[in-house]
Amino acid sequence: MRIPLDRDSKTPLYRQIEASFRKAIESGSLPPQTRLPASRRLASDLGVSRITVEEAYAELVADGLIASRPGSGTFTLPPCSLWPRRGTDETSWPLWQEHLRLRKELFERGKTEPAAVRRLIPLGTGLVDSSLFPIGDFRKALARAMRRDGAGAFDYSEESGYEPLRRTIVHVLASQGLQTDARNVLITAGSQQSLALVAQLLLSPGDTVVVESPTYSVALELFRAFRVQCVGVPTDEDGMQVDALEKVLQQRHPRLIYTMPNFQNPSGVCLSAPRRRDLILLADRYNAPILEDDFVGDLRYEGRAQPALKTLDPGGRVVYMSGFSKMLMPGLRIGFLVAEGPVYDCLVSIKRVNDLASPNLVQRALDLYVSVGRYQAHLRRCCRVFRERRDAMLEAIARRLPADCRLTRPRGGLFVWLRLPKSLSATSLLPVAHKEGVTFAPGPAFFPAREEGEPFIRLNFAAFSPEVIEEGIARLGRAMRRACGAAHGAK
Ligand SMILES: Cc1ncc(COP(=O)(O)O)c(C=O)c1O
Repeated sequence: MRIPLDRDSKTPLYRQIEASFRKAIESGSLPPQTRLPASRRLASDLGVSRITVEEAYAELVADGLIASRPGSGTFTLPPCSLWPRRGTDETSWPLWQEHLRLRKELFERGKTEPAAVRRLIPLGTGLVDSSLFPIGDFRKALARAMRRDGAGAFDYSEESGYEPLRRTIVHVLASQGLQTDARNVLITAGSQQSLALVAQLLLSPGDTVVVESPTYSVALELFRAFRVQCVGVPTDEDGMQVDALEKVLQQRHPRLIYTMPNFQNPSGVCLSAPRRRDLILLADRYNAPILEDDFVGDLRYEGRAQPALKTLDPGGRVVYMSGFSKMLMPGLRIGFLVAEGPVYDCLVSIKRVNDLASPNLVQRALDLYVSVGRYQAHLRRCCRVFRERRDAMLEAIARRLPADCRLTRPRGGLFVWLRLPKSLSATSLLPVAHKEGVTFAPGPAFFPAREEGEPFIRLNFAAFSPEVIEEGIARLGRAMRRACGAAHGAK
């Protein structure tokens, strides 16, 4: 191999030698396992000192391009760029990746065909309407936070979250009847992170978690990812059937009870006041912590609010979680949990090892936005708009869907949970609906035992204008009639 050296160059000679070898190895012109000349011989060939060659070799060793084998010499290694490219050849994944392939099914979600249809109406979404996001007000809050706090806004915040925001959250919660202290609030990356932190802290593979049946589908995915058994307790119009819970507590000794007492996802129902008390008593008797997910507690359109489970907690039994995704903007990724005792300290430590802290600037801007009263005004507007949309959806369902569809009128939240006519299943209806230009969230994703969800679908009313809702339900009605016809024809 020719190694040209420029003795007048500012680049040291050892760097020039190193660069020649690097180029040859990376281009493949020096194939892997090629033996390099001994340093003494190369030094004399090039007319440089042996130390110069040894320095060049040392750089190449440090970069993993060559290695010396005692007694045999120095050899080239395959550079990363020459490793076989990952293509469609599925057999060449490393073994640890092959094991993950088996676990992938844990995260598998229902997929629909790509949208062949013009302007598909995705009634299955879990999102709210982004056109309601208070972008202008939040831009001002961000600018104020940067002006006021300068570089401080870009440092890490405290592990438990920006202290003034924690105090502001305490005030918001107090206005809803939940008394707590900023020292018991932990800011998280959306309430999804609260769920994940609690799971990391309390659950081990093989443990049992009690969930409502149906429950939030991504919570089920999360628990399955932790290799935890989910046991579902049935729900009715008054929420989780707490009397069925005691048997599960006796037989399964769960490590956690996960519940959404307000406008449950997906069913939209609220846990009645007597059941709230019974749930706290039972959990206490059987020494099971409760995780209370209040993801849309403030989106109430009628009826009186029931006390949060956390307010009935004599201390340390309930971890309460909520956030600003559904009530404000999900991309802020700001949620929070309230807990006390050793569980709070452990959750702060787990938060730290996960991501050190939540984004400081966003926390500061959010604090400004909430504390000047903008948040409460925004909530009132959302409740007014979402109530109209709920009513529009209920009316459209009454007019356009088969009379034997069943639902419980939601008093808040985002969703209508519909039981399909007997001849239909969610899985078979979905492709037909997709062809008509509408989709929904199929029931099976929400049940620990997936097949129990086939009679159900979840529809989001909060994300769409009344006109879009009308059109979406009309399309769904057509899809149901087509699918019913096909089902009857098949008999
Ligand atoms: C019941 C429930 N809990 C928690 C979350 C997580 O929301 P985020 O992490 O955006 O706060 C969601 C999101 O859809 C949800 O539906």
